[in-house]
Amino acid sequence: TEAVVPLAPEDPLFGLMAAYRKDTFEKKVDLGIGAYRDNNAKPWVLPVVKKADDIISKDPDLNHEYLPIAGLPQFTSASQKLVLGADSPAIKEGRVTSLQTISGTGACHLGGLFLSKFYSPSKTVYLSNPTWANHNQIMSNVHLKTAQYPYFSASTRGLDFDGMISALSDAPSGSIILLHACAHNPTGVDPTKEQWKQIAAVMRERNLFPFFDTAYQGFASGDLAKDAWSIRYFVEQGFELLIAQSYAKNFGLYGERAGCFHFVAGPSASAQEATKRIGSQLAILQRSEISNPPAYGARIASLVLNDKDLFALWEENLREMSGRIIDMRKALQSKLEELKTPGTWNHITEQIGMFSFTGLTEKQVLKIRADAHVYMTKNGRISMAGLNTNNVDYVAQAIDKVVRE
Ligand code: LMR
Repeated sequence: TEAVVPLAPEDPLFGLMAAYRKDTFEKKVDLGIGAYRDNNAKPWVLPVVKKADDIISKDPDLNHEYLPIAGLPQFTSASQKLVLGADSPAIKEGRVTSLQTISGTGACHLGGLFLSKFYSPSKTVYLSNPTWANHNQIMSNVHLKTAQYPYFSASTRGLDFDGMISALSDAPSGSIILLHACAHNPTGVDPTKEQWKQIAAVMRERNLFPFFDTAYQGFASGDLAKDAWSIRYFVEQGFELLIAQSYAKNFGLYGERAGCFHFVAGPSASAQEATKRIGSQLAILQRSEISNPPAYGARIASLVLNDKDLFALWEENLREMSGRIIDMRKALQSKLEELKTPGTWNHITEQIGMFSFTGLTEKQVLKIRADAHVYMTKNGRISMAGLNTNNVDYVAQAIDKVVRE
C-alpha cells in the first residue's frame, strides 16, 4: 500500500481557515468558512443554546449512555415537524422515517449511501453548478456518479433558470437531483416560488428524484416556515424524496454535529409499510457506519424544538443573526457604491443567506488575500457573517483596490 497511496491536497476550505489562523496581520479578515460571527468577529453561542445547556447540565438523570441507532426520538420527531410543518399529512400518515445524523454531511452521506444501495432507476446525482464543494466527494465516495445542472448566471449574478430547466428536461428519467432548499451555498441565489413550481413540474414530468439539502433554515428569510417552503411544496405535490437537515448554522452547533436525515414517501396506499421497510434498512446502514449518533447537540436542539418558550427565543436569535447579515450586505454594497468601485454591486443585497457570490475572480481573490489579508474562497464567495461594523470599510476598500488593478 505504501507505494500506491498518493498525497491528497488539503481541503480548500479548512486549509483556508488554517492559513487565516496563522496570519499575524492585525487587520486580517476571515470571510471564508460559513460560520456565524458576532460584530466583534467572534463565534456566537446562541443565548437559547446557553439556556438549554444550563438546563441539561442540571438534569440529575443525565448520563452518557448510547442513543438508539436512529438517534434521540424527541429530536428526530421535532426535526420532521420543523422541516415539513407540524401539521404535515406526510407525518400524520406515517410516511416519514428519520435518523439523526452527523450533521448535514452525515445526512447527505446516509442518503447517498441509501440511494447507492437501493435506488435502481439511476446512479447519477445532478448537482447545481456551483454547489457546496463537499457534495461532489460525498456522492462519489458512495459510488454515485455526479453530473451538473446550470444554476448561476455570471452575467446577471442571479439564477440561470432557463439553463437549469433545460438540463432537468434533458436528464435521464429517474436521475437524482440535489436541491438546496434555501440560502444556496455558495451563491446566495434561490429560485422564487413560481420558479420552484416550474422546477417541480419538470421533475414530475421527467420522473426525477428530489434530494433536498437544508442547512440554512431560518437564515434565508429569518422565518423558519418560509425557508422550508420549497420542500413542503414538493411533499404537497406527492413526491417521494430525501432531506438532509443540518443544525450547524441555525443553532450554531457546528462542532456538535447535530443533523437529521428524512425519507418521505409519496401518498400511496402502501406508503406506511414502505416507509417501515426503508427505515429498517437505513438503521442497518447507520449501525455499520456510526453505530449511533452523538448525543449532546441533539439534546440541545431537541430541548429547544420541543419547548414553546425556548423555541420563541431561538427564533429571536435567528432573526438577530440574519438581521446582522442583512445589515452587512447593505453596508458593503453602499460602501462599494460610494467608492464608485467599477461594476454593479446590487447583487450583494439581492443574494440571501450566509453567503455572497461577489463575482471576484480567482486571481483577485488571491491578490486580496496576499495584499489585504482578506480571506475568501477561490470562487469569490464571501461569508457575510465575517463582516462587521469595524471591518466592512476596510474590506470594501480592499475590494475596490483589487477590482481597479
Ligand atoms: C461552508 O460551506 O463554509 C460550510 O458549509 C462549512 C463546510 O463544512 O464546508
